Amino acid sequence: MQIDGYEIRDAQPKDASGIIKCMQSVMDEKIFLVSDIYFFTERGEKDIIKSPEDLSIVSVKDGEVVGIMRIQRGVYKKLRHTAILSIAILKEHRRFGLGEKMMNEGIEWCRNRGIEKLNLEVFSTNTSAIELYRKLGFREEGRKVRQFRIFDEYADDILMTLFL
Ligand SMILES: CC(C)(COP(=O)(O)OP(=O)(O)OC[C@H]1O[C@@H](n2cnc3c(N)ncnc32)[C@H](O)[C@@H]1OP(=O)(O)O)[C@@H](O)C(=O)NCCC(=O)NCCS
Repeated sequence: MQIDGYEIRDAQPKDASGIIKCMQSVMDEKIFLVSDIYFFTERGEKDIIKSPEDLSIVSVKDGEVVGIMRIQRGVYKKLRHTAILSIAILKEHRRFGLGEKMMNEGIEWCRNRGIEKLNLEVFSTNTSAIELYRKLGFREEGRKVRQFRIFDEYADDILMTLFL
C-alpha cells in the first residue's frame, strides 16, 4: 500500500534530528506519551537507528519526518523472544493510514527475526491508538490502574501484546 505524498522507509542516520523534532512535537501535546521531554541527543538517536537489533521506520513528507515507529528487541537472553513497539505521528498527519502501514512493516520485521511476542503500553485514554492496536491483533494482557495522572484525570497503563 502506498500513501499519497508520503515516503515510508527505514530510518537513516540523517533522519536523527527530524525524529527528535517529531517526538518532541508529540510530547508537547502532553496526553499520549509518558515523558514530556525527548531525551535522546542526535548522537544517541543515530546509534539506535544504526543498531541491527532495533527497527526504526519513518514517514516522510516534503523532506520532513512526520512519523516514527520503533521496535526494540529485548536485550537480555530471557527477553530475546520479545520486543517493544512505540509510535508517534505528527498531529496533522494522523488518520491517513501511516500508523497502520508502519506497524505492519514492524510486525513483518519481527516475524522475520523470530520474535514471538510484541509488547506495548498505552494510556487507557488514548482511544485512537487502542483502536489501531486492536485492529492489528494486539490484545490487552494487563493494566496498571490509575498509573498516570494527565492534567486532572487518571489513566490506566494498558499492557498490550501481539503473539506472532
Ligand atoms: C495512534 C496513532 C499512531 C495512529 O496513527 P494513524 O496514522 O493516525 O492511524 P491510521 O490512519 O493508520 O489508522 C489505522 C486504524 O487505527 C484506528 N484509528 C486511528 N485513529 C483513530 C481515531 N482517531 N479514532 C478511531 N480509530 C482510529 C482505526 O482503527 C484505523 O483504521 P480505519 O482507518 O480502518 O478506521 C496516531 O494517532 C498518533 O501518533 N497519536 C499520537 C501519539 C500516540 O498516541 N502514540 C501511541 C502511544 S502508545
